Formats: sequence, C-alpha cells, structure tokens
Amino acid sequence: MTTNNKAGIRNSVGSERYASTAYQAWLRYEKLPAELAEAYVQLCSKIYAAGNVAEDPVLRSAQEELLEGLQAMLGQQPELTDTAGDAALLAGTLDEPEIAGLIDKDEAAKVDEEGYLLHTVISGGSRKLVIAGTTSKGVLYGVFHFLRILQTRGRIDNLSVIENPANKLRMINHWDNMDGSIERGYAGESIFYRDHAFIEDLSRIRDYARLMAAVQLNAVVINNVNVHETETKLITKEFLPQVARVAEVFRAYGIRLYLSINFAAPIQAGGLETADPLDPQVRRWWQDRAKEIYEHVPDFGGFLVKADSEHRPGPFTYGRDHADGANMLAEALEPYGGIVIWRCFVYNCMQDWRDRSTDRAKAAYDHFRPLDGRFHERVILQIKNGPMDFQVREPVSPLFGGLTRTNQMLELQITQEYTGQQIHLCYLVPQWKEVVDFDTYAAGEGSTVARTVSGELFNRPLGGFAGVANIGNDENWTGHLLAQANFYGYGRLAWKPTLTSEEITDEWVRITFGHDPQVVETISRMLLESWSIYENYTAPLGVGWMVNPGHHYGPNVDGYEYSRWGTYHFADCHGIGVDRTVKTGTGYTAQYHEPHASRYESLEECPDELLLFFHHVPYTHVLHSGKTVIQHIYDTHFEGVEQAAELVERWRSLEGKIDAERYESVLERLLEQAEHAKEWRDVINTYFYRKSGIADQHGRKIY
Ligand code: GCU
Repeated sequence: MTTNNKAGIRNSVGSERYASTAYQAWLRYEKLPAELAEAYVQLCSKIYAAGNVAEDPVLRSAQEELLEGLQAMLGQQPELTDTAGDAALLAGTLDEPEIAGLIDKDEAAKVDEEGYLLHTVISGGSRKLVIAGTTSKGVLYGVFHFLRILQTRGRIDNLSVIENPANKLRMINHWDNMDGSIERGYAGESIFYRDHAFIEDLSRIRDYARLMAAVQLNAVVINNVNVHETETKLITKEFLPQVARVAEVFRAYGIRLYLSINFAAPIQAGGLETADPLDPQVRRWWQDRAKEIYEHVPDFGGFLVKADSEHRPGPFTYGRDHADGANMLAEALEPYGGIVIWRCFVYNCMQDWRDRSTDRAKAAYDHFRPLDGRFHERVILQIKNGPMDFQVREPVSPLFGGLTRTNQMLELQITQEYTGQQIHLCYLVPQWKEVVDFDTYAAGEGSTVARTVSGELFNRPLGGFAGVANIGNDENWTGHLLAQANFYGYGRLAWKPTLTSEEITDEWVRITFGHDPQVVETISRMLLESWSIYENYTAPLGVGWMVNPGHHYGPNVDGYEYSRWGTYHFADCHGIGVDRTVKTGTGYTAQYHEPHASRYESLEECPDELLLFFHHVPYTHVLHSGKTVIQHIYDTHFEGVEQAAELVERWRSLEGKIDAERYESVLERLLEQAEHAKEWRDVINTYFYRKSGIADQHGRKIY
C-alpha cells in the first residue's frame, strides 16, 4: 500500500506547508523496495558534479535534485566527491574534461543545445554512469530523466540514451490576472498574484518551476493574454523589480519568463496618443520598454500578444496589419534576443447569427495566410489546435498547412474549459496526439503538425508548443488530481511528440501512484478512455458549443445559437450541422490540402466524429457506423452516462491501494461527474427528441 508521504521528502523550502503526496505530483520520490535500491545503489552512491556548481544556478538545481531524488528513493544520502576518479556517477557539461574523457566524441556531438546523454561506461575497470549535456540545462534535464528511470524502476546498468528536444520552445501560458483570479482556471487562485500585487513568498513558484523542469518545459508566460489595467504595467518600472524576482526563480530551472502585453500600452501606460505600430514615437516607446525590461531581466523571453481579438486592441485600429504590429515589437526586442509570439485566435466576435456567409472556422486562415512570409524572423504565430476554440472535438486548424514561410507554434489548452473544468475526468493527451500526428500534406505526405511547429518541415528557426496552464493554488495544483496527468503529458509531448499516449500514461501513473499492476492498469485505462467518454455524453459528432454561455460549464444546446460569437449548430426539425463545404456551404473545406479537402467535402467520406462540423444532415442520415445520426446521439448519451458511472466503480476498486487523501479527492470528483453526465444526457437527448420527433429505438427514458 502506498503511504501518505506527508513528511517523506522535503519540499523545496523545507516547510511542511505543502508536503502532501498530492502536492508533490511527479516529484514524489517514493522509497524503492530494498532489493531494487540495492541494484541501483552501486552506481548512485558516489557522485562527482563537474563544473562550477556554486556559480551556475541551473547546475546547482541539477545537483540538488539529483541528491534529493536519490536520497528519497534509495533511502541513503549519496556522497559528493571532489575526485572524479572515485565517483560512480558523474554529472556535468560535455566540455568538462572529466566528462569528455569518458564519452566518445561522436556521441557527444549528437547532443544539441538542450539535449543530454545518459551513458553507462567502463572506465579503469569499473562501471560508471554519466549524465551530461551540452549546456547546464541539458544536465538538469538529464538528471530528471535519470530520476524518472528510477521512479519507473528501469535498468541503469547499461544505459545508452541520447535525447534532444523536438521543439525549441516548450511553453506554458498562464491566464492569471493580478487580482489573483485565473481566466478559465479550475484549481483555485493564482500562484503568482494576489490583490493586484505579486505574492511575496516565492516558494510555491519555485516548486512549480521544479515540476515544469522535470517535464523539460523551458518557457513561461505569467499573465493572461487578456491584459487588463494593472497587468499593462508589468513592463514598467512599477512592476519590473518584482517580475525580475520571479524570473530568477524560473531561471534556476532553465525556464525563461515571458509576458503578455497590451498592444495599446503606449497609450494606457505611456501616455501617448496612439499605439500605431508605424508611428516613430510608438516604436521608440517599445524600444525603451525593451531596454528597461532587459536591465531587470537579462534573459527575458519576449512578448505574447493577443491583438485585434475579442475586443483586445491591435494594429487594425490604425489601418495596419498583424505583420506591422508583430514586426514592430520584434524589432524592439531583437537587440536583446527576445521574441514575439503573436496569437492567431482572431475572428469576428460580433457576428449576426442570421448571417450565413461568415464562418468563424475560416477566420484564422483568412487573416494570416495572406501574410505568410511577411513576419520578422523573431516572430512566431501561435495557432490553436482547432479552427474554433478548444472544443471536445474539432478538426485540426488548416492554418498549420497554410503557412510555409512563417514560424509557427501549436497552442493547446491544458486547462479544461470546454472539457469538464477539472470536475470531469478528461485526459487530453490522446486528443493532442491526434493533432500532432495530423498530416497537413503541406509538403507532401508526412507533413505532420509536429514537424510543422518544430520548424523542421519548412526549415524555420523558431517554433514549438504552448499550453494554457491548468495550475492554481489548490493543494494538488490542478483541482482534479488526475488532471495533473494533462500537465505532465503536455510537457512530455512538447519534448517528444513521438511518444505514444500509452507510454506517457503508464509513466505518469507509475510515478504518481506506484507500481501495483491493478492500480496501473485501472488508472491508465480510466485516463485513456476518458476523452471518449466525455465526448459521448456532451456535444455530438464534432458540432461543439452546446454549453452554457460565459462560464462554459454544463449543457445548453442553444446557449450559443443566437449569439454573436459565430458558434452555431443550425438544428431544426429536419436535421443539424454546419455546411462548410465548397459546393453548398461556407467553403471552409478548401482551406485544407488534399486529400483532406475532398475527404471533408464529401458526405460519404467525412469521418463520423466530424460529420456535423462539416455537413448539415437530416437526423435520419446513416453514419459509417450504420446508425442514424439521431440514434447515435441517443446511444452515445446513454452509454456515456453508464461509462461515467463505471469510472466511479473502477476507482472504488482501488480503495486501500491509494492513500486516503488522494483516493477521496478523486472519488468526490468522479461522483460529481457521474451525476452531471446525466444532466448532459437528458438535456441533449430531450432537445433532439423534441426537435426531431423521432423516438429512441430502444425506448429508453427521454423527457
Ligand atoms: C476562449 C476563452 C477566453 C480566452 C480566449 C483566448 O475564448 O473562453 O477566456 O480569452 O479563448 O484564447 O484568447
């Protein structure tokens, strides 16, 4: 039985305040059984740390993590030695002579800037283990990888691992406001701010940085993309000293800090009369800001910008375009090595529902594709995974295949805005895998989203992943304890998109809950099936948006039907769905390369799960599954509720095998999910029964 490890390992500030198992998340270094520890101990008991550990904060973190992780798992304090020859485990950068002497030059040459190697070598007749990176950051990542091997009980006596990140930028976007609230946050309040000020005690931020670094994330935006009044001043003297304190905490874990900016800041914080990106005074203002920022934060990452989107200011006001706006900022940051991340979530949010010619799904592509090639080398366009907005099911954004001369980044939503708000279990890694593996065909077969955003496909200098955080100040970070898996999986995928959902899941479950086969099997399957279960009882066949307006929780079929947001399903007494074909609809399907364009255009070939995204069909339309649309709606909703109830039973089968604190907290959420799934079922089924007048073939209860 796993014990509630309240005092087991230190938390990084030595306080007991946050030392629960739930808080430790994937840095919970459970003590290994004696026979396993014995097998590891020989290679782990004497450590040589190469390089200037005292002066390099990242190396220092690497050493601390290694010592602590080993001590906790092996139950004995490893010894640090000054003599490389005495050590069994050596850690440091590849240019340190003690390390270089043990590693083949050709092998060392394969390690990129943030990569690392873990090699077992024979030297002087004895076996040694080397953890080495080209940079200190690589060493830190190597240490975390090594600890993960122990956490998952792998072998270390014959290691030959070289890992390099697929993506240069592996970023988290926080939608935190300085009043302490979090836009779309479901795990408490901000860990950064309270009452329009920074939180004084940075210890929790440090623990968060450790969690990020352990999954090899290297960039963080600490404020909401919707930049309000106080936050507009984060880039000024008033707050920069505080920003610098936070940046220092992240720096020690290899993470660069970024800020979301308000495009109208020259007016709102600078007292200018315009924010026109081509105005010399405005340009000068941003250059001065950049200079000042870098005086406080020498390794500042850059700006994240939401402009001309959902009422946020932008270059359109001045008759300029996105490239004018982004390039102006990039030029200001360029002398210091900063970058601009410009979001493509741009659409008309004041649409008239009567207007059938405007299609929100087309907007990002229509806005940005004509600008391809016009952006500065230091600008990255950040594109949401789908063309709408993080629905439970959407096609992949066609903009990924539409840009070939622009740096691109994939934006995923780790926080579960439309996917159950961390009350429902919805593990998103399988959804994200579909996105990264999607073949855009932009440069022929094999042009996956993963290769597009890494920059590899079109040889772009910058790119990567951005994930909207699901983190708050709840003791367990994510509200629903199992939602920790979404953050963990996001980090792992950003580093290595070729990992499978199963690999990531197995790893997370073992690290978090231990190795009892029943526990591992049960939780893994619950996670892997949860997205499909959630989809079953919510919006059907890719249509999306059947949620309550504003907060987006719970069913409301017509909640967004007569609104200005461009989110319609067009259900009437005959049928449902959005005709996005070229032939009779909005023409959206033409934004894809072949074979997708034809596949989505064709009613016969369109995949069932996206049918209503692309086509308006009668309720009696027969799916590939052989069922009619209406019967599919009824069946999936009845089934989804049963599956949600089964999740409760599956979890209950683990009682006694998981510490009570975590067991109870998850059980509570699963019970709420099971109850709420019924509400979804009954609202959706009743709505469509009343619209269509078609009875359920199985005569089940519909209201
Ligand atoms: C969604 C979300 C907003 C957010 C926006 C964005 O629409 O509901 O809260 O600001 O996305 O990504 O900018």
